[in-house]
Amino acid sequence: MTVREALAEGAASLERAECPSPEVDAEWLLAYVLGVRRSELYTGEREPAAAELDRFGALVSRRAMREPLAYILGEWGFRRLTLVVDPRVLIPRPETESVVERCLELLRGIEAPAVLDIGAGSGAIALALADERPDARIVATDVSSAALEVAEENRRRASLNGRVRFVHGDLLAGEEGPFDLVVSNPPYVAPTELDALEPELRYEPREALAGEGGHEAVARAALETLVPGGALVLEAGDGQAGDVAAHLRQIGFREVRVSEDLAGRERVVEGRRP
Ligand SMILES: C[S@@+](CC[C@H](N)C(=O)[O-])C[C@H]1O[C@@H](n2cnc3c(N)ncnc32)[C@H](O)[C@@H]1O
Repeated sequence: MTVREALAEGAASLERAECPSPEVDAEWLLAYVLGVRRSELYTGEREPAAAELDRFGALVSRRAMREPLAYILGEWGFRRLTLVVDPRVLIPRPETESVVERCLELLRGIEAPAVLDIGAGSGAIALALADERPDARIVATDVSSAALEVAEENRRRASLNGRVRFVHGDLLAGEEGPFDLVVSNPPYVAPTELDALEPELRYEPREALAGEGGHEAVARAALETLVPGGALVLEAGDGQAGDVAAHLRQIGFREVRVSEDLAGRERVVEGRRP
């Protein structure tokens, strides 16, 4: 069987399973099995060996059960980094890259800024900020020690040891700061809505996805620890940004602003401590 035939067969299985992007997913999986880049799949006349086709078939079956592609591949791109991901952590999303973008903008002009990320997960936000702002001093907290194990592995792989400190605990986890910027992508899917969303979410840690009142708790904690004029940046769910912004104004944040992600959806809310 040729590469093209294997891809067509894999994509057809994924389409039957109603995976949203069957052709692209089949390409990722076959490239992973063959140890090549996706763009290299169509070069040459290579015919996969029987063992490679078996392995590809097994991975296609996992994806057809709607296991997220990122967990099958074991890693996922975020900003300039490739992060290890497994079911201990939320898979970093494209909208969170826009959160990092706003943080970088707000940190411009502040020398050696102190930054707190509440809810580190894979370490995506904290590590991307450390990577793109080499002078920043970053602390990231998480209530999940399992998630922090993954974050620490990602810190090692990105050679960012000594640049980001991960702390196990709730919200500030005893960190006093003060911080120039607090950022968080808290769990924000209403628990009652979770089961109606795409099946892939069943594989992600429920406590990383589902929660209520997370934005409010982070905002209150941020008021305690931000320097005057320091910024808070929050990721919000689709349709939540207006309410989150109103809450920030209500508890005293100034210059509250909502910005869009690359898909044009209002997903990032920021404000400054007076
Ligand atoms: C939506 S995930 C975000 C992960 C990562 N920052 C990202 O953007 O991909 C939320 C994370 O917050 C953590 N978390 C939930 N409640 C928390 C709390 N009260 N204090 C600290 N971390 C919390 C969860 O364990 C989870 O890892």
